[in-house]
Amino acid sequence: MHKIFITGGCGFIGSHLTEYFFKKYKNSIIYVYDKITYAASIKNLKDISNNKRLKIIKKDLSDYNALKKYSKNTDIFIHAAAESHVDNSFNLKNEFIITNVLGTKNVLDACKVNKVKKIIHISTDEIYGEIYKSSFDENSRFNPSNPYSSSKAAAEMIINGYIHSYKLPVIIVRANNIFGTRQHPEKLLPGSCWSLIKKKKFTIHGKGNQKRSFLYVKDLCEGIYKIVSKGKNNNIYNIGSKFEYKNLDVFKIVAKANNLSFDKFVKYVKDRPFNDYRYSLNFNKIMKLGWKPKTKIEDKILEINDWYKKNISRFKKR
Ligand SMILES: NC(=O)c1ccc[n+]([C@@H]2O[C@H](COP(=O)([O-])OP(=O)(O)OC[C@H]3O[C@@H](n4cnc5c(N)ncnc54)[C@H](O)[C@@H]3O)[C@@H](O)[C@H]2O)c1
Repeated sequence: MHKIFITGGCGFIGSHLTEYFFKKYKNSIIYVYDKITYAASIKNLKDISNNKRLKIIKKDLSDYNALKKYSKNTDIFIHAAAESHVDNSFNLKNEFIITNVLGTKNVLDACKVNKVKKIIHISTDEIYGEIYKSSFDENSRFNPSNPYSSSKAAAEMIINGYIHSYKLPVIIVRANNIFGTRQHPEKLLPGSCWSLIKKKKFTIHGKGNQKRSFLYVKDLCEGIYKIVSKGKNNNIYNIGSKFEYKNLDVFKIVAKANNLSFDKFVKYVKDRPFNDYRYSLNFNKIMKLGWKPKTKIEDKILEINDWYKKNISRFKKR
């Protein structure tokens, strides 16, 4: 029997990963380790939470002893917990360093002591910073430009040290923007759904011309499974899509899904202190493992919007 340990498993990406691995590894036992912050909910796992193969541990990454205790005999460790919202990270809120950097160090120490055989660390394309044309590959240099991406880059540097010093079997996965159900409406796409369902105005930073590529969360899960089964330890894999959208275009797609005219509901506000113009990944390396992105926002927007309609009461404020 496999023991799979997933941090942040009650959050957006983590809950989809938990369900995916739960179904894929029929003989597994899955430990979800999660502080369950404002961005997460135990309801995200309601379809499997009564099953004995799932254990949910409500604990903080800062609790090293708990991490060490619960991750004993883990075969596959997926580290998805983080403070994830860029806007919250301005003014360098300490949570971003405590969770994303020190929390990752605790994960590594627990894995080292428990001799975990495979550790997948979920990182972000934001560590590369912006790029006007072409794309970053896994050897591109770090150039994080906001406190969130800086904390994720710092976590990767700690991992690098552990790989060299202790031969820890870590694989880093750098993902571009992910979309799907269960994401907190603080983010662009779910925030657009939330506002338009409530017929409220939605704020767009600057003119909304920033470009982001979007990968569907279930395509991400398949990619992570490929990396778990075929990826090489101590390697980095970019994962993303070439489905690129301006922020304003994402809002327009959601407005169309709600049969509303976008210009009546958009409110342009002052841009972030620094807002990367475009992120873009070269993900040829993971494609060589036999994976590719399949799903565009337009393919899933009605389903996602419908999910937010049904679950709107979960999110009191954006
Ligand atoms: N969402 C994206 O578009 C995206 C893109 C690239 C990378 N990522 C990365 O993927 C991972 C998951 O992101 P997400 O979008 O699901 O974020 P999320 O905010 O929805 O989920 C984060 C999860 O981590 C948990 N958590 C936060 N602090 C914790 C702590 N101190 N101890 C234990 N648990 C804690 C939260 O409760 C939540 O369940 C993060 O590492 C993020 O940096 C996300």
